[in-house]
Amino acid sequence: MSIKNIALDIDFVKAQFPAFKDPLSSKWSFFENAGGSYVPHNVIKHLNNFMTSTKVQPYAEFDISAIAGNNMDKATELFAEMINARKDEIIIGASTTMNMYVLSNAMKHFIKPGDEVIVTNQDHEANIGAWRRLESYGAVIKEWKINTENAELEIEDLKALLTNKTKIVAVTHCSNIVGSINNLQSIAKLVHEYNAFLVGDGVSYAPHGLPNVKDLDVDFYTFSLYKTYGPHLGLLYGKKEILNQLPNQNHEFLEGDVPYTLNPGGPNHEELSCLVGIYEYFNNLYNHHFPDENNTLRKKIEKINELISNHEEQIANPLLEYLNSRNDIKLIGKKKIENKNRAPTIAFTFVNQSSKKISDQLVKNGIATRNDNFYAWRCLKALGIDVDDGVVRTSMVHYNTHEDVEKLISVLKKI
Ligand SMILES: Cc1ncc(COP(=O)(O)O)c(C=O)c1O
Repeated sequence: MSIKNIALDIDFVKAQFPAFKDPLSSKWSFFENAGGSYVPHNVIKHLNNFMTSTKVQPYAEFDISAIAGNNMDKATELFAEMINARKDEIIIGASTTMNMYVLSNAMKHFIKPGDEVIVTNQDHEANIGAWRRLESYGAVIKEWKINTENAELEIEDLKALLTNKTKIVAVTHCSNIVGSINNLQSIAKLVHEYNAFLVGDGVSYAPHGLPNVKDLDVDFYTFSLYKTYGPHLGLLYGKKEILNQLPNQNHEFLEGDVPYTLNPGGPNHEELSCLVGIYEYFNNLYNHHFPDENNTLRKKIEKINELISNHEEQIANPLLEYLNSRNDIKLIGKKKIENKNRAPTIAFTFVNQSSKKISDQLVKNGIATRNDNFYAWRCLKALGIDVDDGVVRTSMVHYNTHEDVEKLISVLKKI
């Protein structure tokens, strides 16, 4: 049976997330997933276990400390395997914004006056501001601008910006407003022809399918674990050979202890250890849908990714179609998801009403959403949208249902 014919068992999925049974959370049709997702019970279990039994300094000889250290290492190893990286290429930091800042601070050592850094105006500010700061070290900042007709980044425009002086290109894998998936693989090929580094922001991509960083051939890649069914942490991947060249930003005596040299301090232990719960969730999802197929962990993730994107496509396309059919709504980005070219992160404005007013009405009717610029203020500015009022963003992940979408459409019909 082709995977297209295997439907995601939504009841099984929802049963893994305690929020759907919680009296406070369960009353909402939840459309703010791009802000932060719910967590499965395995994550909560590991967090609880760490805090209850092993909440001591890890890596000592006594058992509870050794167990704490093992769980932390296991979490890093599993995530490395799930995104096809090596475990010494993974850095767990407080957030993506923090990871980008720490990375750009280290990368300034590669910058000579006159070197060029390319940022976009489609990205979240986390993958713009950190790189724009390199201007104070002599970098010339160039902006890869969206086509304001369709809000997309066109690869031809990047080609026109790249020169032999280009050192860094920072671009999102998926915009948290436009929703389009940018082809990082072809961007990487182009950027590497100029011997420059590519930094990909996967925050809006990873919740819809963990990436294969080696296939993408990005030099650095980040995503926020709290939007990917985990606690409030950020994951940074970096190619080992590049990490090796970055300066030690940690204690002097840790020199050479890559990747721990990048962050000036260690990760949050309890939150790192509970990332094992995300692996367990995906593994359970795999075993439930493919009980007779044994596979490598990365292969399992690929099958889960396909299952998830088929479901997301099916629930998001009716909403996109509805929004697009209304003359008083301006939908941002692609009008249909085809072959995973867009995430179900759907932003729009009303022609004659403020986004705040629309969002308030949605919330009053049980739809958890919000209006904002979602820190992609340069993107909104380029599209001529008031950055204070922002857009209404309705973002879904694989635990959203047809019923959620029907409810949202029925509320929008009343507005
Ligand atoms: C696309 C994108 N990049 C980066 C970030 C920043 O992530 P963090 O909150 O982990 O700093 C966000 C957060 O919303 C985002 O949506």
